[in-house]
Amino acid sequence: MKPYKNSSSKKDQIESMFDDISKRYDKLNQILTFGLHKRWRKRAINLIDNKPERILDIATGTADFAIAALSLNPKKIIGIDISKQMIEIGNDKIKKNNISNKIDLTIADSENIPFPENYFDAITIGFGVRNFENLDKAMSEAYRVLKKNGCIVIMEPSIKNNKVLNALFRLYFKTIVTNIGYLFSKNFSAYNYLSESVKEFADSKTFLKILSDNSFIKCTHKTYSFGVIDLYFAKK
Ligand SMILES: C[S@@+](CC[C@H](N)C(=O)[O-])C[C@H]1O[C@@H](n2cnc3c(N)ncnc32)[C@H](O)[C@@H]1O
Repeated sequence: MKPYKNSSSKKDQIESMFDDISKRYDKLNQILTFGLHKRWRKRAINLIDNKPERILDIATGTADFAIAALSLNPKKIIGIDISKQMIEIGNDKIKKNNISNKIDLTIADSENIPFPENYFDAITIGFGVRNFENLDKAMSEAYRVLKKNGCIVIMEPSIKNNKVLNALFRLYFKTIVTNIGYLFSKNFSAYNYLSESVKEFADSKTFLKILSDNSFIKCTHKTYSFGVIDLYFAKK
């Protein structure tokens, strides 16, 4: 699904949508997850088991996942994203925290990653995969740039099969996310898209298959916070 009702590609729409909400993104993330996104990021980072020297954060946005990955003490973290404005906010944060020597942010597409094969020890993707136009291509690119024995961790919200939880989540996304998102960002389409796309995104079984179809091994999945968030882990 796309954020706007016009004929431009999903990728172009996503880029302009995130450019538009970039200044409010961090605040809204904090409000809409009740601050839990920090805990989820920590959990995700703790799954990385190979002491990575070089980490790639795909769809880095305002760089929160990249910054969380500093706890692994890598030599370098590269964040890529198609939204220039999201990256600008991320760069401001990096400068303010004096960590420019550790994290570099670059405008680049997950479906065409500008790095050689077998380059990164670990890859993270937070709240990104459901926004990709060609998820399969993005996962094959992630596989290409990952080193053998390297690992990938993906964090994505989900709606569960449990009927009661499902009804609660739908209510939460439909009313809270869409309306608070609109109030703060004045962009109804963006937060309507962000909540609707959670429902549209592949269920965990399908996404695990996408990972294994793209040659990842040891693909596993864990759910946290009563099923609100899915963490996926896989290796090359
Ligand atoms: C919901 S934000 C997530 C930001 C950040 N990873 C986080 O954890 O808060 C999704 C990001 O995915 C980026 N994105 C979407 N499609 C992309 C693509 N094809 N390549 C790179 N980034 C993409 C958007 O520009 C946006 O910044």
